[in-house]
Amino acid sequence: MKLNILTMTTAALALSAGTAFAEGEVIGFSQIGSESGWRAAETTLTKSQAEERGYQLQFSDAQQKQENQIAAIRSFIAQGVDAILLAPVVATGWDSVLEEAREAEIPVVLLDRQVDSSDDLYLTAVGSNLVHEGEVAGGWLAETVGDQPCRIVELQGTTGSSPAIDRKTGFENAIKGHDNLEIVRSQTGDFTRAQGKEVMESFLQAENGGADICALYAHNDDMAVGAIQAIKEAGLKPGEDILVVSIDGVPDLFQAMAAGEANATVELTPNMAGPAFDALEAYWADGTAPEKFIQTESKLYTQADDPAGEYERRKGLGY
Ligand code: AHR
Repeated sequence: MKLNILTMTTAALALSAGTAFAEGEVIGFSQIGSESGWRAAETTLTKSQAEERGYQLQFSDAQQKQENQIAAIRSFIAQGVDAILLAPVVATGWDSVLEEAREAEIPVVLLDRQVDSSDDLYLTAVGSNLVHEGEVAGGWLAETVGDQPCRIVELQGTTGSSPAIDRKTGFENAIKGHDNLEIVRSQTGDFTRAQGKEVMESFLQAENGGADICALYAHNDDMAVGAIQAIKEAGLKPGEDILVVSIDGVPDLFQAMAAGEANATVELTPNMAGPAFDALEAYWADGTAPEKFIQTESKLYTQADDPAGEYERRKGLGY
């Protein structure tokens, strides 16, 4: 729905009649892919939220490619959808297509990742403070190791994505000034379990079979789960010989924490669609412009926070 005078009048009529105004709206969703359990849960929740609210969701899986996302957005614009949800795989290169959406008067809401475009080009962005997530992870590690020397290996997310950039920055901020903490190896594992395992194997090999590694910081839980497997196959105990801290809060990571094989995770809610749809509904109703950034909560969980219970609470939620 374009917010012109005609539709505003329709909106006012629908609201005064007490009908569900937004029902039947067509929403295009350009999703990155299915690289992680967290991503799967975000997709599931977006689909179920759309269904509950009576929207028609046009779903497009970009298989990790920005060009597929750009093509999907152009197709949504050509169809004249009422809004577009975009989870941008990388932070750069969106200006032209976002300008095309603005030209067509289609509001765009960013989900979970940021772009470097002007914020005039989208209605709002729903996501966590990604730098803060890294700071929480690094703060936990600094406090846990105290004065002990600690050589850290880092598994980064997808190169050029805002969570990879910001979670790295946040973690480095947190360990700055702790001279006993040092990141000795850092490489991308592309947010996947398979690459997390593969890269961790190379870290272990390069670091005296893992004997020289004190901790792993992974930018997401899936890479941590893959790395935990690699650590076990190397004959070491993850969670003891090598501390494991990561981000997302997926069920498998809680299971690893319950088994003592992971130490901490910073939760990222997969429910980005709920706040996004609330913002769109207010906008459609009377043109209310939401804040440019709708921040979700980031919560630290450790082995002391009932990981077995947290696993049970999350296991059926689409991860
Ligand atoms: O953008 C959010 C990140 O993307 C999640 O932490 C990760 O699991 C996903 O792939």
